[in-house]
Amino acid sequence: MKIGVISADVASESRVAITPDAVKKLRKLGFEVVIQSGAGKAAYYADELYQASGADIASSSAEVIAQSRIITTVNDLPAAAIEGLTSGQIVIGMLDPYRNTQLDTYATKGVTAFAMELLPRTLSRAQNMDVLSSQANLAGYKAVLLAANEYSRPFPMFMTSAGTVKPAKVVILGVGVAGLQAIATAKRLGAVVEASDLRPTAREQVESLGGKWLDVPMSAEEAETAKSTGGYAWTPSEQYVKDQAAVVDKALSNADIVITTAQIPGRNAPRLVHGATLAKMKAGSVLIDMAAGTGGNVEGSVPNETITTDNGVRIVGAANIPSMLAAQSSDLYANNLVNFITTLIAPASDNASASDASANLALKLDMEDEIQGALAVTHDSQVRLAKR
Ligand code: NAI
Repeated sequence: MKIGVISADVASESRVAITPDAVKKLRKLGFEVVIQSGAGKAAYYADELYQASGADIASSSAEVIAQSRIITTVNDLPAAAIEGLTSGQIVIGMLDPYRNTQLDTYATKGVTAFAMELLPRTLSRAQNMDVLSSQANLAGYKAVLLAANEYSRPFPMFMTSAGTVKPAKVVILGVGVAGLQAIATAKRLGAVVEASDLRPTAREQVESLGGKWLDVPMSAEEAETAKSTGGYAWTPSEQYVKDQAAVVDKALSNADIVITTAQIPGRNAPRLVHGATLAKMKAGSVLIDMAAGTGGNVEGSVPNETITTDNGVRIVGAANIPSMLAAQSSDLYANNLVNFITTLIAPASDNASASDASANLALKLDMEDEIQGALAVTHDSQVRLAKR
């Protein structure tokens, strides 16, 4: 049974879904692997490295699709590639399920499409498949470096004979996986860090990393809701949003660096920094909006562009930071995919009845399985995605 690797659109994506190391792991499981020529180039994985790991190289995505039972990708496949899919094929990738307009086509084609973003986060046996965490962790780290690069002063405090240099004041809004890594990285660089999240449980994590918690008042009812959402973002009241804006306004008026990471799966990112607050910020201060690709946490941010406001504040619209660390982010993403693919194969004892004799492997698609069932956005010619 063959697994295919489709090249991403290199203009916007440098990652590759399967690395040469992952090819070796898949071959150990009994799969053959075919990769579209050049798919790993932007992540510094040349075709020769794939060949040395035992993969075949194909010259086009159509060729990969024609040969493969399972097709892996970083982002959603282009329409032309989906056109070439046939019933029974499996597509695995970060398919951006809630904004994906091609799910009907996948379903009509009889394809089983797995969107890796839909993984149940708190299921411990699924943690090694968690692409949101593996990518956000790297992105949180790199966001701080991007900010340090844009900022015209250093992060740490320096005592020099020419005078004392004050440490940078960094504010992190949204303390999930990326935000926590951003706090840790900014602290390592010597900054003073403040952070906020609408999940009160994040407070302890912020403080354990040496950050100061920016508290937004919350009603007793909201505190209950926050507890019952199992650690995920809840929909804040108008009053909370107002109070949060006041806390953010005060903190940012005094900040040098701001990193915003707040996302809500399936919806536009919440607006956390408004124009009135930007107008109060210091010239030379820098905002990295990690939610720029899904509507933006910062008013005026533009995906993949750096905007300078009239008062000299720089807003970096960081739409795809993991792609900037393509070698490492591809390694971790590929490991996540291999771990998931492993769950699609029947245990060895079932293999006696394997219908696919070519590799003596049997696929075990089971929509009752809590991982497969959560990830499958199309199966049996149906779109299975619950509306948000
Ligand atoms: P995310 O990327 O969806 O959002 C980043 C952060 O922004 C989250 O902490 C969220 O609470 C916060 N946020 C959203 N809207 C906000 C608003 N209006 N104001 C302020 N903050 C806002 O989050 P990520 O990193 O994907 O994590 C989501 C949840 O999953 C978290 O609770 C995290 O702790 C949990 N998680 C649990 C894991 C586990 O138990 N194994 C693994 C990974 C994540």
